[in-house]
Amino acid sequence: MASEWCIGIIGGSGLYDIEGLEDEQWIAIETPWGEPSDEVLCGRIGDVKVRFLPRHGRGHPVSPGELNSRANIDALKRAGCTDILAISAIGSLREQIEPGRFVVVEQFIDRTVSRESTFFGTGFVTHVSMADPVCPRLSEMAGKAIAACKGKVAVGATYLAMEGPQFSTRAESLMYRQWGADVIGMTAMPEAKLAREAELPYALVGMATDYDCWREGEQVDVAQVVAQMQSNGELARDTIVKFIENLPKKRAASPIDTALDDAVITAPDEHE
Ligand code: ADE
Repeated sequence: MASEWCIGIIGGSGLYDIEGLEDEQWIAIETPWGEPSDEVLCGRIGDVKVRFLPRHGRGHPVSPGELNSRANIDALKRAGCTDILAISAIGSLREQIEPGRFVVVEQFIDRTVSRESTFFGTGFVTHVSMADPVCPRLSEMAGKAIAACKGKVAVGATYLAMEGPQFSTRAESLMYRQWGADVIGMTAMPEAKLAREAELPYALVGMATDYDCWREGEQVDVAQVVAQMQSNGELARDTIVKFIENLPKKRAASPIDTALDDAVITAPDEHE
């Protein structure tokens, strides 16, 4: 069945609002999981409802390990989102992904260790499939929007999610390359897992800010990340608007809308 789009945008470091929203309003959303990173900026672009959440809060007060991704995803769900496009700063583990390039992520390796990573638990057990962790439809549209805005783009990347907040050691960085990871970041997990549990199709666009530390003589620092995010900020904003403007008029149903249908293992009479 076709329906209306309501796009959730999760903005990464340096992306604390989006321009061009009609009827815009910051709204506080309560969740049973605690506080989201910030209020949600609600508005629309044409007929498409938009809900924007700065992942680290306006001004970046929330560090990666402190992110309450359950509250963030639940707030977007409660705000009516049908789909999520997430934006994130990433380090590059590949020569051909130079700083400044946008990357459409297809797979994840999750090395985070101390984050609440499920909406379910004792008494109500689910095992949702993460074999294909992103929505191919959103990812394809994101790649086209980047190209239409004249951004350099790589598609099909594997994202290594690390705990942080420290950057990787050189040995780790070299090992992640051997594992087949293409880019590295601290924030997209468990966000992507929780989006799937919330039956929200999710796509991730990374903005490469540095070469991490695997390269001879290379070492990442925050100044580098911030400078690159600033120089790419306008392109990221244009890409988000283009992505929204280019959505098909109506939203066809996605298999991810019913991801929990085959995922609950607890017997129905135990959780009714
Ligand atoms: N975010 C941006 N660059 C990064 C890097 N090199 N490692 C982890 N997260 C990052």
